[in-house]
Amino acid sequence: MHGIHLLPASVPLCVALFATGCQPSTREVSYSTDVAPILEKHCKACHMPGQAGYVVSGFELQNYETLMKGTQYGPVVLPGDPLTSVLVMLIEGRADPSLKMPHGDAEPLDRADIATIRQWVEQGAKNN
Ligand code: HEC
Repeated sequence: MHGIHLLPASVPLCVALFATGCQPSTREVSYSTDVAPILEKHCKACHMPGQAGYVVSGFELQNYETLMKGTQYGPVVLPGDPLTSVLVMLIEGRADPSLKMPHGDAEPLDRADIATIRQWVEQGAKNN
């Protein structure tokens, strides 16, 4: 009896939790609303023409196209493959410490931001 009563009320709650990332493995991450603002806030200042990160690596964070183009050595985002995507390795601290991003003394990304980017790559790094 009780359970039957509770069921309709719990449906909207479930939807709300879903939307806030309660089930990150199935939520579709958006480049424009989720990923771009993180890169803008934590990375872009050094990765624009004339800035240190761009000058050294050629990696520009102007837009989706430059993000996917990568460095002068090639892509740092491999759609569907967060494990070997250099960008994900860097923000997760899996690369050499001298290469951690954000560079130098800047605060690392928080876990939620790292998870968002990892998931976006996992889901195909779409321009969505
Ligand atoms: C304080 C400046 C600065 C910030 C902020 C910064 N970077 Fe960098 N980035 C650099 C510099 C400098 C290099 C070149 C490092 C080198 O090759 O020694 C670099 C290189 C890179 C590379 C190329 C690595 C390679 O394989 O050569 C990637 C990818 C990268 N950054 C991603 C990011 C991401 C993602 C963020 C944000 C989470 C970020 N960076 C934030 C300065 C910065």
